[in-house]
Amino acid sequence: MAIAANASPTSGLVDLSTGQISREIFVNEEIYQQEQEQIFSRAWLFIGHESQVSKPGDYFVSSMGEESVILCRDRQGSIHVFLNSCRHRGMKVCRYDEGNTPVFTCPYHGWSYSTDGKLVGVPFFKDAYHEELDKSKWGLVQVAQLHNYKGSIWATWDESAPSFLEYIGGFQLYLDLLLDSWSGEEGGTEVFGGVEKWLIPCNWKFPAENFVGDRYHNISHRSVDMVGIGPSGTGRRDTAERSGARFLDICFPERGHGTVMQLRSVDAPIPESYQDLPVLAEYFRWCEEERKRRVGDRWRLMGGPGTVFPNMSYLPRQPRSIAVWHPRSANQTEVWRWFLMDSQAPPEVRDFLRQYYIRYSGPGGLTEQDDMENWNYAHAASSGVIARRHPYNYEMGMGYEIPNFEDNGLKLPGVVLDSTNARAGEQNQRAFYGRWAEFMASEDWGRLATWR
Ligand code: FES
Ligand SMILES: [Fe+2]
Repeated sequence: MAIAANASPTSGLVDLSTGQISREIFVNEEIYQQEQEQIFSRAWLFIGHESQVSKPGDYFVSSMGEESVILCRDRQGSIHVFLNSCRHRGMKVCRYDEGNTPVFTCPYHGWSYSTDGKLVGVPFFKDAYHEELDKSKWGLVQVAQLHNYKGSIWATWDESAPSFLEYIGGFQLYLDLLLDSWSGEEGGTEVFGGVEKWLIPCNWKFPAENFVGDRYHNISHRSVDMVGIGPSGTGRRDTAERSGARFLDICFPERGHGTVMQLRSVDAPIPESYQDLPVLAEYFRWCEEERKRRVGDRWRLMGGPGTVFPNMSYLPRQPRSIAVWHPRSANQTEVWRWFLMDSQAPPEVRDFLRQYYIRYSGPGGLTEQDDMENWNYAHAASSGVIARRHPYNYEMGMGYEIPNFEDNGLKLPGVVLDSTNARAGEQNQRAFYGRWAEFMASEDWGRLATWR
């Protein structure tokens, strides 16, 4: 595609009036480079979880867009996010994935930084710098804003970005289903096991849009449904909890976030789950009863996959996890998957769920393998000069959006598409790409905070 000078390179590529989106936005390297500037240097991004840095000196190396960052808890107990690049010549000051340290010492010439980012050690400070280097000006680069939301750590490079809570808006209600414990205890979750990391040969937006609300691809998972990899051995998830529920797609077009939801009926019984394993059955029954007591009407919400714009996706129920789709090139994405566990879950529940998590998600997970096959081949088959002339179709469910959804007194924030019968719709994907186009075209947050 020829990109005209002085024109936004992405104008006309996302057409929400027809539901058509150009393949260029997935395969064009120039557009990919612009995304780094327009999206990843301005949006709030997920960094990690506070349980990964529970003690002073703990650190976890993460990524914001293409850039390596260090999530770290300093000696006083405050959490920071630093650019993982020495101020002297840019060497990576931390080359480990995680650990505990009193200082970060650069391997190149030996500048060292304390865990709150200050430059504290400079070799030959007296003889080579004559004590004239102003160390207070050469600490590690820190993010402009950081927010700890129920243990999940988020950051942005843009000081003019709205606060995290404003960025999330009404989506907070749905994100809570991920971060609160199954029993409804606020923020009662922790990271469980290690973080899985692997590369996939496709654009980062393929998985992000899949999680934002692609209910339509059930055919891809026929085999895992049939072998019954789910906790109760029926289907790939537990099905008892879903019987009689309304199926809703929920999106926030002015923000780009979206999720799918099952809404239990007002008189839904507590599902009989995990019946073959008494410890689990008892634990989840207790959780459901507790949650019903704690959150009232919201007990009816059973969260499905979701995406927080741009590249953090999650699954709020088992296998409860977070995925970040780190962009590496137009044609490559590095996937990181964190698994979450109720902090109060007994050992038997942890061990059982650990096996289910591995069976379902990650590079060896059967369900995730199905998805990756689709993204990888779709990407490759969209890259050729002929393929790139033909847009994708996102018109499913256009015109059926419900702006002020209510069910038996329960009002749900966001725009809702009732897909109980179809079990599919593409309004969430349209919202995601509409927001993507706004980010690509807007100069500053003054224009991006459209809800103000
Ligand atoms: S690059 Fe780090 S001390 Fe020189
Ligand atoms: Fe899938």
